[in-house]
Amino acid sequence: MERGIFITFEGTDGSGKTTQIEILKTVLEKMGYNCIFTREPGGTLLGEELRKIILSKDFGNMLPETEAMLYAACRAQHVEEVIRPALKQGKVVLCDRYIDSSVAYQKYGRKLGSMVEKINEFAIHGTMPDKTFLLMLDPNKSKDRIVRELDRLESEPYEYHDRVYKGYEKIAEENPDRVVRIDGEKSIECIAEIIIEEVRKII
Ligand SMILES: Nc1ncnc2c1ncn2[C@@H]1O[C@H](COP(=O)(O)OP(=O)(O)OP(=O)(O)O)[C@@H](O)[C@H]1O
Ligand SMILES: [Mg+2]
Repeated sequence: MERGIFITFEGTDGSGKTTQIEILKTVLEKMGYNCIFTREPGGTLLGEELRKIILSKDFGNMLPETEAMLYAACRAQHVEEVIRPALKQGKVVLCDRYIDSSVAYQKYGRKLGSMVEKINEFAIHGTMPDKTFLLMLDPNKSKDRIVRELDRLESEPYEYHDRVYKGYEKIAEENPDRVVRIDGEKSIECIAEIIIEEVRKII
C-alpha cells in the first residue's frame, strides 16, 4: 500500500508555524508533490465546530480535563476523516499542530500528566508524524507577533506559557529522531531552508 508523508508543525503561538507550512507547501507543489494543508484543532466539519468551543472565551470555566478531551475528540475525527485517507493516497500531509500540542499545552501547561498521552493514543491509533518541525520562540516574544485578538488559551498567564515552552523542550529531547527543533527567532527564509533541507531527506 502506498504511504504518503506526514509532517507536523509545532511551537508556541505566533512562532511562525503557518508561515512555514505555506512556504513548504508551495515548494513541494513546485516539485510535483501532492500536498494537503490541514490544522488542529479543526480540519473537519465537526472539528471546526469543536475548535470554536475550545478557543472561545465564553468558556473561561472549562476544566482542563474537558479541554484535553475536546482536543483529543477533534483529533480522532481529523485522523480518520482527513489524515489517514490522504496518507493512503500517497499525499504529503502538512498539519498545523497535532499530538505534541496536547502534550505541551495540556500535559505540561495544564499539568494533567500522562493521561493526556493515553487519551491521544486512543484518538490517533498509532498515526504518528514522520517528521515534526518545532519552532521555539520565547512566549513573550511570540505574543508580540500576534496582531489579532488573543483566544482563550493565548490569554493564559506567562507561567502557563512558560510551562508549555518547557514542555516542548522535553518533547524534543524525548523524540530526537522525529522532532527537529528550530530557533524561531531566525529569519523566515532561514527557517524555511532548514525545513526544506530536512524534508528532502525523507521525501
Ligand atoms: N521567523 C520569523 N521572524 C519574524 N516574524 C515572523 C517569523 N515567522 C513568522 N513571522 C510573523 O509572525 C506572525 C505570526 O506568524 P504565524 O502566523 O506564521 O505564526 P503561527 O505560529 O502560525 O501563529 P498562531 O499560533 O497564531 O497560529 C506573522 O505576522 C508572521 O509574518
Ligand atoms: Mg498559525
